[in-house]
Amino acid sequence: QKGGYPSFMAKEIHEQAGAIADTLLGRLVDGKLHLDEKAIDDSVLRSVDKIVVVACGTAANAGAVVKYAIEHWCRIPVEVELAHEFRYRDPVVTEKTLVVAISQSGETMDTLMAVRHAQEQGAKVIAICNTRGSTIPREADAALYLYVGPEIAVASTKAYLGQIAACYLLGLYLAQVRGNLFPDEIAQIMEDLHALPEKIQQVLDASAQVEDLAKDMKDATSVLFLGRHVGYPTAMEGALKLKEIAYIHAEGFAAGELKHGPIALIEEGQPVFVIVPSPRGRDVLHSKVISNIQEVRARGARTLVIAEEGDDEVLPYADVVIRIPQTRTLFAALLTVIPLQIFACELATAKGLDVDQPRNLAKSVTVE
Ligand code: F6R
Repeated sequence: QKGGYPSFMAKEIHEQAGAIADTLLGRLVDGKLHLDEKAIDDSVLRSVDKIVVVACGTAANAGAVVKYAIEHWCRIPVEVELAHEFRYRDPVVTEKTLVVAISQSGETMDTLMAVRHAQEQGAKVIAICNTRGSTIPREADAALYLYVGPEIAVASTKAYLGQIAACYLLGLYLAQVRGNLFPDEIAQIMEDLHALPEKIQQVLDASAQVEDLAKDMKDATSVLFLGRHVGYPTAMEGALKLKEIAYIHAEGFAAGELKHGPIALIEEGQPVFVIVPSPRGRDVLHSKVISNIQEVRARGARTLVIAEEGDDEVLPYADVVIRIPQTRTLFAALLTVIPLQIFACELATAKGLDVDQPRNLAKSVTVE
């Protein structure tokens, strides 16, 4: 059942290339994007003036990643809300709000309640879900399913990548119906999306380095994660994975926040993962993160740096460099998170923990 892997989580991590290929399959035909489960009128999508993503946990981190792309492509403001915070406020939601509910299980009670709350205010809801026929996509106005297969391990991995990929399709579809991008631009972006499964596979094929690192670090008591732009939610997700299955204190920060507080945590030997954006994309972003690595290293941190192939600027400041293939800045989040998933999974395995069934957690949180 586990296909020769020590845990379902390890198996699901290693299935991610195929899972993303399947999620993207058949979506761009004859230069048009087809979202076959769509039931919201294009005229409604054209009138949308705000997108609100509602989700919890890892699904919320997926939403935080795709905010960057959707705002960039569609020029619509995107708010990412924890479903349990959203529903107990008095959020500004109108008929022009498009709510995107992301949920692997489709049964998370807080997310379902947020969906109902939004619909009561007249908003349309699109569900991004993995489990067909579950409650959230049934109640939503439209559903876009992931095709990543069942996820058994409590800690979400392949569904996270699938959620991001599916939201990218939604973002491109919106950009198409609203005329924000030219068809050839969409085609080029889709081509880069379709190139991702192969790159995901390359990251997975190089997993031995991270596995060894995790074994070496099994006695760590605190690990920090830093990133900017899409690297920020990736840092949050890396920290969440480590907390939930390895029971290690972990925190993800926006690297720009360091000097506003978290840098006080850095002492000799503190492990810090840093997610470095592509040096080819937005130079400023890259150089800012390089400065952040220098800042924590000067205070004694052990820097574990995830950087693009060919980025040699990180070398003087990195204790360990983990390489990912080159891609668009926006798409790097689908690659840089993989070493962090492997790290958490291997570290928990090395500690002899039940990786698939961490204490106190359930796969589907159907209570409020
Ligand atoms: C973390 C994890 C949880 C879920 C969250 C939402 O690895 O799995 O944080 O992401 O409980 O679950 P769904 O996506 O089923 O709504």
